[in-house]
Amino acid sequence: MTDMNDIAALKSKFAGLIDEANDLPALDAVRVAALGKKGEISGLMSTLGKMSPDEKKVMGPALNGLKKDVALLVETRKSVLEHIALEARLASESIDISLPVNIKTGALHPVTQVMEEMAVIFADMGFSVKEGPDIEDDFHNFTALNFPPGHPARDMHDTFFFPEDENGERKVLRTHTSPVQIRTMMSEEPPIRIIAPGRTYRCDSDQTHTPMFHQVEGLVIDKGTHMGHLKGCLMEFISAFFETDVDVQFRPHHFPFTEPSAEMDVRYERKGESIAIGTGDKWMEILGCGMVHPNVLRACGLDPDVYQGFAFGMGVDRLAMLKYGMPDLRDMFNADPRWLSHYGFSPLLQANLAAGLS
Ligand code: DAH
Repeated sequence: MTDMNDIAALKSKFAGLIDEANDLPALDAVRVAALGKKGEISGLMSTLGKMSPDEKKVMGPALNGLKKDVALLVETRKSVLEHIALEARLASESIDISLPVNIKTGALHPVTQVMEEMAVIFADMGFSVKEGPDIEDDFHNFTALNFPPGHPARDMHDTFFFPEDENGERKVLRTHTSPVQIRTMMSEEPPIRIIAPGRTYRCDSDQTHTPMFHQVEGLVIDKGTHMGHLKGCLMEFISAFFETDVDVQFRPHHFPFTEPSAEMDVRYERKGESIAIGTGDKWMEILGCGMVHPNVLRACGLDPDVYQGFAFGMGVDRLAMLKYGMPDLRDMFNADPRWLSHYGFSPLLQANLAAGLS
């Protein structure tokens, strides 16, 4: 007959075995030996039915307690072993990115190349490059950009939210690079002339959308800045980028953070499988832009009666596809070395205006 001493002995026996289990299969074998259908503890549980009521009163809770204790020990050990297994996997699958580039096979990703090209063009116009965090707060991603809480335009951003933190605040993966405008205006004195390239995120995935994509933001703040500056700057940019004269049109649009706002289209035509930019009778939207809204300037502590400015934002991935003729956006992020060696760029030939961008 089982008594309390047996139960204590069983507990310490299984605790020892669980502790000694060095991997997940070994741990599972211990679990089965204790708690499986034919396991030792399950066997004892099945003797409960034959016990006298008095005995049952004592042994019932004791055996149930034993079962629970052993199950808990198994679970705890399991999470330790899983953690160890993950660490081992991470260590064995790591790549030493400090190894020298194999010049024959290493290539710059088209997104990297295009961001470099954009930086070179804008640097030539006196812009510097700024970066901001991928994990943003609501203030920088929305509120300061004149999306008040509850504004319907917020919903259009398909935002990835983090769980609430201890202050009840939900951080987001930035849905655009526009928050870098806010960070720059709050930390620098005008005149400001910056571009901000980086990763952006929206909960959206199909042939033309990936949950992570890239944008380049632009911001100019000065006294006496007007729409003519915006148009001149962007027209100059787009022709330099496509390395040919590009006809553009500005179409009125709406963004909360600019007033007036516009989208810039470029003239294009289809030539068989490919797309030619600059000729034809079709228009394709390429970027959003506008004069910085007075509310945005005020949110950053700037007086709209003194300072004005313009801003713009564009999708890097799509511009890369257009310029270099890549048919599917999703290929960009598949990490397929055949695709990269076909569409990639030599790391030794850096984009520069004198020699031609690409
Ligand atoms: N942030 C906008 C978006 O992701 C793009 C944009 C439009 C940025 C107009 C701007 C702008 O700076 O002026 O949809």
